[in-house]
Amino acid sequence: MNSLEINKIYNEDCLETMKKMPNDFVDLVLTSPPFNISTANNESDRTKSAREKGFYHSKYGGLFNETYSENEYLEFQTKVINELLRTSKIIFYEIQLMKDNRFAIYNLIYKFKDYLKEIISMSKDITQPMSAKGVLARQSKLILVFDKYNSKSMQYEINNFNHLTNHWNIEANRKHFNYSKEITKIHNATFSEKFASIVIENFSNKNALIYDCFSGTGTTSVAAKRLKRNFIGSEIVKEFYDISNKRINNLQGLLI
Ligand SMILES: C[S@@+](CC[C@H](N)C(=O)[O-])C[C@H]1O[C@@H](n2cnc3c(N)ncnc32)[C@H](O)[C@@H]1O
Repeated sequence: MNSLEINKIYNEDCLETMKKMPNDFVDLVLTSPPFNISTANNESDRTKSAREKGFYHSKYGGLFNETYSENEYLEFQTKVINELLRTSKIIFYEIQLMKDNRFAIYNLIYKFKDYLKEIISMSKDITQPMSAKGVLARQSKLILVFDKYNSKSMQYEINNFNHLTNHWNIEANRKHFNYSKEITKIHNATFSEKFASIVIENFSNKNALIYDCFSGTGTTSVAAKRLKRNFIGSEIVKEFYDISNKRINNLQGLLI
């Protein structure tokens, strides 16, 4: 197994990046997986041509498969979490329950229950209106915390906080933060640097290695670098990978 160069984002499938990692290589993972939201039912010419080439145009603007069936999504996320558990000590996996992913998420919670330390809830900045009559409007996100060695204890091995609750009412989305329109336009499922900083600062120490397997525009790595941690990211879409490199290289003059 090759060891990886750190402080770098890899423009590839995260399963490929993790193959190159030895066990326990990473101190902390913070990630937000693709939510399996298909736009295939509402298809433009661009998405149609992408689909014909075997890709779908995702909500995030990138071309990758976001139209998994529930079982395929479950299978993919199971592979990813298995690899995350092999390579990493503690994992913060931020998700939103949606129509097309919720059974997969319920399954994942059961499947990985022996490693599940905690489920933190977090307010969304904007309540998503009800999608149909009789459906609850969506106002929360969940963070599944997997702890490979210490899930039975409620105590975190690395805890730099004096007081932190299990419900986070913070600016979780990018919009409150001073991002440019460029990112907003291209990728509309990013989390805020503030959220990433809370996780990284409280649950890892300086010089730790932080990994985001679905790195998007690189928010986790930007926060890690600012907080004097090392980072690795994987992002499959070249457009987002390019944005993350710009953001990381531009920390002083932030923010593009
Ligand atoms: C919810 S977004 C993450 C956004 C990120 N937290 C940010 O602040 O920009 C999920 C990302 O996963 C990427 N992705 C999907 N499948 C992937 C895979 N197999 N390997 C690596 N990245 C993938 C998508 O392109 C998308 O950018």
